[in-house]
Amino acid sequence: MSLAPLHGIRACVFDAYGTLFDVAAAARTCSAELGEKSSALSSLWREKQLQYTWLRALQGRHADFWQVTGEALDFALETLRISGSGLRDRLLNLYLTLDAFPEVRDTLARLKQAGMRTAILSNGSPRMLKAAVEGAGIPHLLDAVLSVEEVGIYKPHPRVYQLAVERLGLEAGAIAFQSSNAWDAWAASAFGMRVVWCNRYDQRPEKLPGGPDREIRSLAELPALLGLN
Ligand code: LAC
Repeated sequence: MSLAPLHGIRACVFDAYGTLFDVAAAARTCSAELGEKSSALSSLWREKQLQYTWLRALQGRHADFWQVTGEALDFALETLRISGSGLRDRLLNLYLTLDAFPEVRDTLARLKQAGMRTAILSNGSPRMLKAAVEGAGIPHLLDAVLSVEEVGIYKPHPRVYQLAVERLGLEAGAIAFQSSNAWDAWAASAFGMRVVWCNRYDQRPEKLPGGPDREIRSLAELPALLGLN
């Protein structure tokens, strides 16, 4: 894939979970109680959380990401036969204070310095996103925090990507969308955004419509890719 800078980008829009915030941090924090089931819980919880968003979107039965994340956690805990007083609520509440990946703050600061507009576009509910953004100390580095709650359906429905276009007042082609979730990257590309796939998890390319314009391993590579270094 080309490493040449992307030109004509006026705003950088980021996926939240997995891209800016480390979803594995919740199970890691409780690893003493979870023991050897910690990483299985983390993967199954995330997998079910995403499946439930897609299934609810198909059924037209939206519920916000806090509810879906809790229901996915219940499924994962039951499947792995994990119990423990207060553990469920502790794990779920950790979602409000997930660690940001180490390069996030500097990358956003660099983009802002260069005059780039920045935003989050996420499945997260407004309350979840506010808590994560404040916890990471990055509210001043974001022009907008956009939640799917404004459109009432989950990614990858095109209405979600359209929300960013409308709120930023830019054409899709002037927006660089960053996601570590391959399916989200492919969908934003199919919608018409320029896409930088931050492939943190060494995922395989999707066999779906669309495809990223660039692939990086860490968001620290983004400013140079936009010709800002
Ligand atoms: C989000 C999920 C896809 O933040 O990670 O939208």
